[in-house]
Amino acid sequence: MKTVLITGCSSGFGAEIARFFWGKGWKVVATMRAPREDILPPSEKLKIIALDVRSPESIRAALNVAGPVDVLVNNAGIGWLNAVEGTPMDIVRDIFETNTLGTIAMTQAVLPQMRERQEGVIVNITSSVTLKPLPLLSVYTASKAAVNAFSESVALELEPFNVRVRIVLPGRAPDTRFSETARTRMQKQGGFPEAYSSVVSDVFASWEQQPETALTKPSAVVEAVWRAAKDPSSPIRIPAGADAEALAG
Ligand SMILES: NC(=O)c1ccc[n+]([C@@H]2O[C@H](COP(=O)([O-])OP(=O)(O)OC[C@H]3O[C@@H](n4cnc5c(N)ncnc54)[C@H](OP(=O)(O)O)[C@@H]3O)[C@@H](O)[C@H]2O)c1
Repeated sequence: MKTVLITGCSSGFGAEIARFFWGKGWKVVATMRAPREDILPPSEKLKIIALDVRSPESIRAALNVAGPVDVLVNNAGIGWLNAVEGTPMDIVRDIFETNTLGTIAMTQAVLPQMRERQEGVIVNITSSVTLKPLPLLSVYTASKAAVNAFSESVALELEPFNVRVRIVLPGRAPDTRFSETARTRMQKQGGFPEAYSSVVSDVFASWEQQPETALTKPSAVVEAVWRAAKDPSSPIRIPAGADAEALAG
């Protein structure tokens, strides 16, 4: 029986991915910053473990209790929407610390066991914003584009060890907690700079015009992660959701 370890399972895509793999009979290590037992089904095959991707001790402790991991899903991530002028450097560091360095640290942590077993898959969740530049998303996009570049390079160095790397690029998914937590972070920092108000209205207006059918459902992300994990012939970049697929062409 295969084991998948997923980061950021307290909500959104992470929780859905955990539920899906468990439903397919996999052993699931669902990790959360603050573990909660009421999110996922109680089961011997589903372990809930504390893991903050920004903390080396937390990563070490989680992997010590996780047991062998066949598939790592780097899903934990945080959002940010603002002009670069309205983005303090501590926020820039925060976004990169979680989205980029967290992914690299988790990859480093699982690699020794995968390389020794000559088997494993690492799935990194980035974003369709890396496929088309958008205003107010420079910092978030940079944090995810760095993960695309990291993944494509590390995929080559891991080929000799039969460890595969895949990137799942979801489109905009308003059903998760993502926008709400990003909004709270933005409001704490004082919102958008006045000078950018027309850029901000244009961005919000373009989102309002996006039809429901052109958005991304968490189920599309789950399917893309499943394909990445199971199908060795899948491409390295897998867009997830109607909007992401349209952008990927
Ligand atoms: N929703 C979208 O529109 C969208 C589009 C493209 C890509 N994505 C990406 O998809 C991934 C999942 O996002 P989502 O939409 O499912 O949002 P979400 O519901 O906000 O889930 C994000 C998860 O990441 C966790 N997390 C945050 N910081 C962490 C840390 N330091 N260590 C471990 N876990 C941490 C959160 O845990 P806490 O509960 O502890 O905060 C939460 O479980 C993210 O990487 C995001 O960038 C989202």
